[in-house]
Amino acid sequence: MKAMTTQIQIAPSILSADFCNLERDLKAIANADLVHVDVMDHHFVPNLTLGEPIVKRICEVTDLPVDVHLMIEDPDRWAPEFAKCGAYSVTFHMGAVHAPVRLARQLHDMGVKACFAVRPAEPVEPIFDILDEFDMILIMTVEPGFGGQKFLDNQMAKVRRLRDEITRRGLGTKIQVDGGVSPKTAHIVAEAGADVLVAGSAVYGAEDPAQAIDDIRDKAAAAFRA
Ligand code: DX5
Ligand code: ZN
Repeated sequence: MKAMTTQIQIAPSILSADFCNLERDLKAIANADLVHVDVMDHHFVPNLTLGEPIVKRICEVTDLPVDVHLMIEDPDRWAPEFAKCGAYSVTFHMGAVHAPVRLARQLHDMGVKACFAVRPAEPVEPIFDILDEFDMILIMTVEPGFGGQKFLDNQMAKVRRLRDEITRRGLGTKIQVDGGVSPKTAHIVAEAGADVLVAGSAVYGAEDPAQAIDDIRDKAAAAFRA
């Protein structure tokens, strides 16, 4: 089945932005499709970033939909709190969530999109039976916790299997990839079937973040396979 005009979306991660100039750095990515906010709790991952008050202000300040990536323990408890901050989508991890279907339905009831994430060593197949509960599946292309790591191309087989399953069932589920995405790797993830690309250091480390976004989007759009 041929996918109809699949739109590649670029979600810059503010993990690589200047936290003392967040408003300025949010304006610098106005041509993005989403803004990706990494919430880390120093337990599920070794790093610690930010919590609800900052997510709430980001949602108030930006015109972009806010994509909250929770790398925290007990998302069953906390994901709805982040949804209340004004998030567009909330992502929780397979390795942390207890009741993913219940949580996805709770987020939907709040008008927020639900996304399920898998780390590099986690398989995607266990999600297949509950795939239609989610708006997006996140395939991590680095071990979560830090920006600026090297892209793991060994995750592309997983992206392909997920894309095949989505296509076979005619679902609209999006496939997000996160970690090491840049103008150099965008074609690899898009060719495997990813359509939402998170990029932190490749956007905020660039001289012109807006140009980097367009560059990643163009390279991905040219390579995307449905
Ligand atoms: C890593 C985070 C990513 C990170 C990506 O755990 O989830 O969103 O910011 O950064 P880059 O694009 O630099 O790999
Ligand atoms: Zn992330």
